[in-house]
Amino acid sequence: MFINKDVESILVSENELREIVARLAGEIDADYKDKDLMMIGVLKGSVLFMADLMKAMEKDFSIDFVVVSSYENGTESSGRVNVLKDVSQSVEGKDLLIVEDIIDSGNTLNFLVQYFNAKKAKSVKIVTLFDKPDRRQVEIPVDYVGKVIPDVFIVGYGLDYSEKYRTLPYVGILKHEIYS
Ligand code: IMP
Ligand code: MG
Repeated sequence: MFINKDVESILVSENELREIVARLAGEIDADYKDKDLMMIGVLKGSVLFMADLMKAMEKDFSIDFVVVSSYENGTESSGRVNVLKDVSQSVEGKDLLIVEDIIDSGNTLNFLVQYFNAKKAKSVKIVTLFDKPDRRQVEIPVDYVGKVIPDVFIVGYGLDYSEKYRTLPYVGILKHEIYS
């Protein structure tokens, strides 16, 4: 397979990604059987994950998206979260599942959970493809986790560094020299 020259090694292969997504889809299907589910993707990192997750699920549900910023083009969270694009419909009374690519400091998801609770969602849960628990600054319960990973900077399958590498079909560890 073709590996991007800026990628040091592959952390999660396309096959493993498929297995992770299938497992999460089964768990979510079972838990939301009788609920009015709305999935809210956090753009842009979640886009490939969310597309595959939706296709793997049996349940029908509505979707929406938000764009938030906290990183300002680096590899460290600034801690401040801004909503750059809001959902385009009411979330009141809905069972929301926020779809994230990765939880790192926890600042983004901590903000979004409070944000949607304030908009009177019936419930707010989180599915994240990756979790880097070593980097957490805010403790926040994560309901569905694809894979727990060490403190490395990863790209691909939606995840970027400075808007690059999102379209890689696998998840790789970015060479240190690219961002140091
Ligand atoms: P948090 O607010 O620090 O939890 O940051 C979560 C966001 O940071 C994610 O949605 C990603 O956009 C970004 N992020 C965190 N770690 C990585 C990484 O290893 N690669 C690419 N993006 C990352
Ligand atoms: Mg993101």
